[in-house]
Amino acid sequence: MKQKVDDARQQIEDAVLDSEEALESFRLTYLSRNGLFSSLFEEFKALPGPEKKEVGKPLNVLKVFAEQKFAQAKESLEEGKETIRSATDDVTLPVEPSALGSMHPLTLVRHEMTQLFMRMGFTVADGPEIEDDFHNFTALNFPADHPARDMQDTFFVRKGDRAEDRSDDLVLRTHTSPVQIRLMKEQKPPIRAIMPGRVFRNEAVTYKSYFQFSQVEGLVVDTSITMADLIHTLVTFAKMMYGDHIEYRVRSSYFPFTEPSIEMDVRTSSDADWMEILGAGMVDPNVLRAVDVDPDVYSGFAFGMGIDRICMLKYGFSDIRTLYENDLRMLSQFEHIGGVR
Ligand code: PHE
Repeated sequence: MKQKVDDARQQIEDAVLDSEEALESFRLTYLSRNGLFSSLFEEFKALPGPEKKEVGKPLNVLKVFAEQKFAQAKESLEEGKETIRSATDDVTLPVEPSALGSMHPLTLVRHEMTQLFMRMGFTVADGPEIEDDFHNFTALNFPADHPARDMQDTFFVRKGDRAEDRSDDLVLRTHTSPVQIRLMKEQKPPIRAIMPGRVFRNEAVTYKSYFQFSQVEGLVVDTSITMADLIHTLVTFAKMMYGDHIEYRVRSSYFPFTEPSIEMDVRTSSDADWMEILGAGMVDPNVLRAVDVDPDVYSGFAFGMGIDRICMLKYGFSDIRTLYENDLRMLSQFEHIGGVR
């Protein structure tokens, strides 16, 4: 029996396990149910006590050795396979291109507008989308019960009980004009700033109005600012945005916070429809007083431009809702303009 174990050790040590076949025949010969170790252990059971002592340990050690040799050979064969596979990959091939995002047309137009106004010396400010009544209405010269509040159907976040005192109301801002108030409270004139942002109105959705849209507010306050400065700024903007051929018209209008007030329409050719793109005017003295700016010393103009309308005209959208549906067929058309590279 001892001799058998020694012979087996010799064979196992000599075995070369360099292929799947060699590995499998090793397993069958030694480790399987009908293999050599099974029969050696059978034989071992039948030995008389003293011989058992002599053979038991070497037999066990040999079995563990055989199992380890098998496991190691198997592992290195598998590793070898992987090495071979990766050696056939060409690591210099370019990777598959993955789809890149693009900037939304509204973002593109907002960026472009911001750039244009910065070239004209404007700074950029912003304010919160949830506003209190004071900033959204009262400081802008909307009296508590004034029908002008109905111009801007409002989403209320919190509504106070008393109709004659609205100071507890919190609203989703209906325009970016409240940022004018915040800015004038923070910064003394001279001021020349734009304030881009999202606004919300509880309006019926149609092809040209949505319950959410974006505006660029503008405010200039200094000594001797006039209506001519306002109109010159607006016309310069329109030409920079659309080109010199753009047609424009200025109509008189009404806002509680400007006096006089105007609106401006543009069209890209004389047979196209007019599109209203902004409201504007000279800052009402009451608004200057609400933020402690002396209207006898300072005057100013303000405007609020609709980014959505300006974007529709620039890229030829006929329905504002297209801008909010995030249809990839629309968005991917802007990859060459606003692709993230
Ligand atoms: N806030 C006005 C609106 O949303 C636009 C506006 C801004 C008009 C500034 C005059 C001055 O319609």
